[in-house]
Amino acid sequence: MTTQSLEIMKCTHEKQKPNVDELAFGKYFTDHMFIMDYAEDKGWYSPRIIPYQPLTLDPAAMVFHYGQTVFEGLKAYRSKTDDNVRLFRPKDNFTRLNLSSDRLSIPPIDEQQVLDYLKELIRLDKQWIPTEPGTSLYIRPFIISTEPNLSVAPSQSYKFMMILSPVGAYYAEGMAPVGILVEERYTRAAPGGTGMAKTAGNYCAAYKAQEKAVAKQKAQVLWLDGKEKKYIEEVGSMNVFFKINGIVHTPELSGSILDGVTRRSVIELLKSWDVPVEERRISINEIIDASETGALEEVFGTGTAAVLSPVGELLWQEQSIVVNHNETGALAARLYDALTGIQTGAVDDPFGWTT
Ligand code: COI
Repeated sequence: MTTQSLEIMKCTHEKQKPNVDELAFGKYFTDHMFIMDYAEDKGWYSPRIIPYQPLTLDPAAMVFHYGQTVFEGLKAYRSKTDDNVRLFRPKDNFTRLNLSSDRLSIPPIDEQQVLDYLKELIRLDKQWIPTEPGTSLYIRPFIISTEPNLSVAPSQSYKFMMILSPVGAYYAEGMAPVGILVEERYTRAAPGGTGMAKTAGNYCAAYKAQEKAVAKQKAQVLWLDGKEKKYIEEVGSMNVFFKINGIVHTPELSGSILDGVTRRSVIELLKSWDVPVEERRISINEIIDASETGALEEVFGTGTAAVLSPVGELLWQEQSIVVNHNETGALAARLYDALTGIQTGAVDDPFGWTT
């Protein structure tokens, strides 16, 4: 691990900041970025904050060929009233980054040190954090393998970077319910695969199914397990929850499901409200049955990017299953308000989640 001090090179010209209504998701980037390098004989070295800029990489850099790369996503919030910047459970993201890295044979980073570097970076670009409701600063830490070598083996050199993007709603629909195609052919992750890791291949391998969903005017797909195509895993790139007869159910972490920070927070919030919540295997047939008997009350996805996204319709074998009259459910709305209230500092944080 590096013990070197952080070098800071400030930009000479600040970029024009976008209007809040143009933000969308991940379109704009702040004035600075963080970068450090890894070599086998040095470990992580040369941590520095530099003006946001393109990279120069060898075309043989391993990341281009075999996809040895991992990333994270977390958010910072600034409130109009007290001007403090809040990070939501940032340690959890760096712990997960190391878990993803371990799965992809990438060397670990020092979680506390990287969090300190992130705080410095945010301090510098603080004025980029939007304060309107529903907006935040999305933070994208990531690692790429840089060794110029076409051997199929772990790289001996890497770059770790953090870039910052002021964002609005992830889905154009915002908190309005979205329609979802239950995907029966393609799967997101297989047992023993990389489903629990945030690695690029998991996301681009989902585009084909996403195209099918869009062709059917649906926003996303509901992923079934890679073995039997029977059990529910995730919705789009989010974890998924079902409220059935007053009990909230979410697929258990099986190795092929991402251990979402928002998923974990929703479970902890529900428990604190004495709402029963179960982590277990859930079959698609069970959900269809629950909708037929009227027991299916709400469905929603959770993730850092969108926070919470209600599902208003499931399209399953050409059969449309409408959930909660295609309206945002009361529990989804309560969870969204509680989470965003804690994240922005609008309400107290009894869990100690914000930094
Ligand atoms: C999230 O919900 O945070 C995600 O994983 C989506 C992200 C890859 C944009």
